[in-house]
Amino acid sequence: MDNRLLDIKDLAVHFHLPEGIARAVDGVNFHLDAGETIGLVGESGCGKSVTALSILGLIPSPPGRIESGRIIFNGQDLLHLNGEGLRKIRGRDIAMIFQEPMTSLNPVLSIGRQVAEPLMVHQGLGKSAAFDQAVRWLDRVRIPAAAKRLNDYPHQLSGGMRQRVMIAMAMVCGPQLLIADEPTTALDVTIQAQILSLMNRLKEELKMSMLLITHDLGVVAQMAARVVVMYAGQVIETADVTDIFDRPFHPYTRGLLKSMPRTAGRATSRSGRLSEITGTVPPLTDVIAGCKFADRCAHAFELCRHHPPKLLPIGQGHNARCWLKEHPEHRRQDHG
Ligand SMILES: Nc1ncnc2c1ncn2[C@@H]1O[C@H](COP(=O)(O)OP(=O)(O)O)[C@@H](O)[C@H]1O
Ligand SMILES: [Mg+2]
Repeated sequence: MDNRLLDIKDLAVHFHLPEGIARAVDGVNFHLDAGETIGLVGESGCGKSVTALSILGLIPSPPGRIESGRIIFNGQDLLHLNGEGLRKIRGRDIAMIFQEPMTSLNPVLSIGRQVAEPLMVHQGLGKSAAFDQAVRWLDRVRIPAAAKRLNDYPHQLSGGMRQRVMIAMAMVCGPQLLIADEPTTALDVTIQAQILSLMNRLKEELKMSMLLITHDLGVVAQMAARVVVMYAGQVIETADVTDIFDRPFHPYTRGLLKSMPRTAGRATSRSGRLSEITGTVPPLTDVIAGCKFADRCAHAFELCRHHPPKLLPIGQGHNARCWLKEHPEHRRQDHG
């Protein structure tokens, strides 16, 4: 328990929309230990980004609202912090990188300035000391001729280089936790591999923990020790990465694995669509009595449609939210 860095307990985040209440995050539980990387996976729209934004206190409100739960970071509940307290933690102790660097880089500020800024804000460094460190960081993320590029603006860089700048910005203050939300989804396969290996290297050097969000299980296989699978706002399976690949339990996890591109490590599916599971995620405004996956599940039986399954242990460090645990006789052998 000592090295527990982040503990998310029963988190519920709803969006109050004209068409109803969208239960984007509907009772999520998982934890992250110091130095650990976990992969948060699931189809697009299943609540991964909303979970991440909740940690940083960045849920747009209205229409969003954190209804219940706790987000314990270093023993402190982030949901009890005020704006000032959260701003201190954001960028210093917890940093985040996003899929599209252009949305988080400021187009009218030089990249040197943007990497230097967190050092001035959080560590009180003067301008020249901060810029010195910025050069060192741009070098560390392998921006060629870093000192000469300090005054460049984001639009002068390629997508891969912009992502490196964003990583430098995220890392300058030596955060304990890096949240990376689809960090390589917008990049070419070769650039993606370079960025992932850069992130892995920095994570080791800084002894940081990482919450890596992706719909790409190839990325997870490369980066994560443990996997949390989400479906329609809930965690439906969690296990060590080898168990997820060798012994997936939940029919949804099995479907995700089946729809992985054959060529290992290649992100050929950009959309997050699943070829092996028919149908789509139910509207999050629907009130579903049973298992949220039942409509798409080849194994579903009566119980699944009327009673929600709980997330229960099915092995060492392995949990699944599925009635097949109690009723294995309903698993159809011809379907995964
Ligand atoms: N700003 C918003 N306004 C209304 N609904 C939102 C907003 N952000 C997210 N949602 C709802 O939350 C759901 C989950 O979104 P998100 O966490 O972004 O999914 P993903 O798993 O692809 O990251 C969306 O399908 C949408 O219904
Ligand atoms: Mg997302």
